[in-house]
This record gives sequence, C-alpha cells and structure tokens, in this order.
Amino acid sequence: MAAVLLARGGGAAARALTFGCLRQLHTVYQTVELPETHQMLCQTCRDFAEKELVPIAAQLDKEHRFPAEQVKKMGALGLLAMDVPEEYKGAGLDYLAYSIAVEEISRGCASTGVVMSVNNSLYLGPILKFGSEEQKHQWIAPFASGDKIGCFALSEPGNGSDAGAASTVARLDGNEWVLNGTKAWITNAWDASAVVVFATTDKSQKHKGISAFLVPMPTPGLSLGKKEDKLGIRASSTANLIFEDCRIPKANLLGQQGMGFKIAMQTLDSGRIGIASQALGIAQGALDCAVDYAEKRLAFGSPISKLQAIQFKLADMALALEGARLLTWRAAMLKDNGKPYTKEAAMAKLAASEAATTISHQAIQILGGMGYVTEMPAERHYRDARITEIYEGTSEIQRLVIAGQLLKEYRG
Ligand code: CAA
Repeated sequence: MAAVLLARGGGAAARALTFGCLRQLHTVYQTVELPETHQMLCQTCRDFAEKELVPIAAQLDKEHRFPAEQVKKMGALGLLAMDVPEEYKGAGLDYLAYSIAVEEISRGCASTGVVMSVNNSLYLGPILKFGSEEQKHQWIAPFASGDKIGCFALSEPGNGSDAGAASTVARLDGNEWVLNGTKAWITNAWDASAVVVFATTDKSQKHKGISAFLVPMPTPGLSLGKKEDKLGIRASSTANLIFEDCRIPKANLLGQQGMGFKIAMQTLDSGRIGIASQALGIAQGALDCAVDYAEKRLAFGSPISKLQAIQFKLADMALALEGARLLTWRAAMLKDNGKPYTKEAAMAKLAASEAATTISHQAIQILGGMGYVTEMPAERHYRDARITEIYEGTSEIQRLVIAGQLLKEYRG
C-alpha cells in the first residue's frame, strides 16, 4: 500500500506547475521541512483532494451525504490504515505521514478528514496496539481497504469529558458478553461495520472496571439513533449507538478486562494528532481562500491585500497555522520514535483547533459578505472548524491534560 501511495507521488513536480502560485508556495514550505517520502505523500494526497474532494465538498455538506466512493478510493490508496503494517493490509507508514495525509484530505473536505481519522486512530489504533493476533487479522484487514469503516464508542449521553464515568454495562453470560447502555456522538455510526466500545464490567471499580469490546455492525441488540443534524462536518454521520441485550462472543474482549480506560486514553492520545491535523487542513483551506480573495478583490483602487489591515490579519493567521503544524508534527514524531506524547498531542490539538477557529473566522472577515454565503467555502470552513475544539476532548480537557503532565514533569 505504501508503494501505491508513493508511486502516485511520482508526477509531483509536473503537477505542481499547474497549480496557482499560492499552492506552489505551500509546496516549497513542505519541501523544506519534510523527508522526500513525506513530500511525495503530501503531493499525492493534495492531488487526490483537489480532484476528488474539492469539487464536491460543498454538495456533500449540503446533502449530509457520506463520501462513499471517495472513501473507497482512499482505501485503495492506503489512506485508511496508514500506520498499520503491510501484513495486516495497511500502508506501513508512520504517524507523521498520517498527520500530513489527514491535513491534505481535510483541506479538501473536513468531513472526509474525520471519517479517515476515526478509522485510522480510534478504530484501528486500539486493535493494532491491544488486539490479539487473531483479532488483528479479523478486525483490521477489511477496514484497511475502504470496504468497511469502523467507529469508536466512549461518550454517553450522561458523560463526555468525564470518560471514566461510563454507565454502559457488559455482563459475562457463559461464552458471551451481554451489553446494555447508550453511547453518544459516535462519528461514522451510520456507515460503520464495527465499533470499539467501552463498557463497565464492574461499576464498583470506577474507571478500573471499564473494558473494551469489538462489536460487529449491524448485530442483534445494537440499534442506531437518529443522524445528528450538525453545524459542520455534515457529510460524516454522527449518532447514538443503543445496546439492548446485545450479545457478542467472549473472545471479542479487546485487551485485558479492566484495561478499557487506559486503552481509551492511549487511543485518544493518537486520535488527538489526527484531529489536530484535520484542524490544520481546515485552517489551511481558510487561509488559501482568504489570500486568494484578498489578491483579487479591489477596494480604494487596489487589491485589498495591499492594505495593512488585511496584511496584519494574514500574518497572524499564517503564524497560528504554522506554529500549530509544528506542534502537530512534533507530537507525531514523538509517537513514531516511541517517546511519550500525551502532553504534546494535547498541545497540538489545542493549538490547531483554536487556530482553525480563529483563522476561519478571520477568513470570513476578509471576504466580507462573500464569506457569509455558500458560494465560497469560507462559511463551511468556519462551521467545520468548530467541532475540532469539542470532539476527542474539549479545549478545556486538553488544558487539563497539558497542566497535569507539566506538573508531573516539574514534580519529577
Ligand atoms: N495514557 C495512559 N493512561 C492514562 C492516560 C493516558 N493518556 N490518561 C490517564 N491515564 C490513566 C492514569 O494514569 C490513571 O491510571 P491509574 O488508575 O492506574 O492511576 C487513570 O488513567 C485515571 O487517570 P485520571 O485520574 O487522570 O482520569 P480522570 O478520570 O481524571 O480523567 C481526563 C482524565 C483527561 C479528563 C479523561 O477523562 C479525558 O480524556 N476525558 C475526555 C474524553 C474524550 O476525549 N472524549 C472524546 C470521545 S471520542 C470522540 O470524540 C468521538 C468521535 O467519534 C470523534
């Protein structure tokens, strides 16, 4: 799969010539910072996004339509299982590559970006790390090709930030687990063929009583709630999962019994790199749109890009974006090098999501009325950005995680 991705990058230089000057500038920036393989991957994903996502992103958003065909193509390119070894049919790349790819895809369509991120980080990630050999073969390969996608069910209607307070229950009955409870805000819910779900096997032990399970979808006893009608990322489905005496084989326990909370936390550490990257893509899209407009829009006899009021905005937008990108790449590289990265992933997500919100807000300001209508992508970027400060841990939770890790470091 890696070979597929990289072979596609071969014509990068030629294709770059057909891009506008703004994109060439961005390419040069990447060239300076990244190893050659990652530059090629970046170009491949950018080409894919330009051709397959940019032309339809507004329509997908309007119709709340899942990009089924595009997701299948992404599976064929290796984008749905990027750090999964080739023996399980993944691309065998690293998290830096994953971050770059999610950014480029999200720049074209943020909904498609989160579909990709959830499948890679939240569904495949914990199976790869905690699954038995048998589970890896069964639950990874079909989800690497784009034939199927997965989801991750941790939050509940009564608990989001307080993830340890899960009230969904799993009871062992002979050779089966019986699940009861409701999971909320599940990305990919309507389109998924399996879910990693967290449920308590012993309430008295609080977070230490939580376990993780693999549940096929559809399956008897598991039903879907209504599709949420969201502000942004409207082409991805979000819904409740309702478990009513849902029986799964005993062998579907993921990791050890009682390890679920740690599995969830470690999974979210990686997931936050994915969401940070999604936010970078949204922010880059908004900045591209703002610069392009500022260069073309005339006021007081010249393009508004000549006005200092606009230049100051553009400078602040670029600064926030590039700082967040460096934090995101640092977190990804720490993970790739087997170093702790909990704090850095939280910093990356916090910085990138706040940058995406601010940049998309300022992009609308630069576009004025044109930023407020659906003819231009600026209003979609603004709506899509907002969720990145909420899911996979709110900005407030990221600050708690950062402060907790920081104090631990100082206290030694
Ligand atoms: N890695 C490994 N272990 C970790 C960990 C990490 N990153 N974070 C905490 N732990 C361990 C602790 O070491 C501790 O272990 P012991 O019991 O052995 O001492 C245990 O977990 C409990 O830790 P805390 O006391 O710090 O836990 P807490 O209850 O105070 O919660 C929290 C900490 C950071 C607030 C956590 O609950 C959290 O991250 N909340 C946000 C949840 C979240 O991101 N939800 C998003 C859902 S997914 C989603 O958005 C859906 C989607 O589809 C996109």
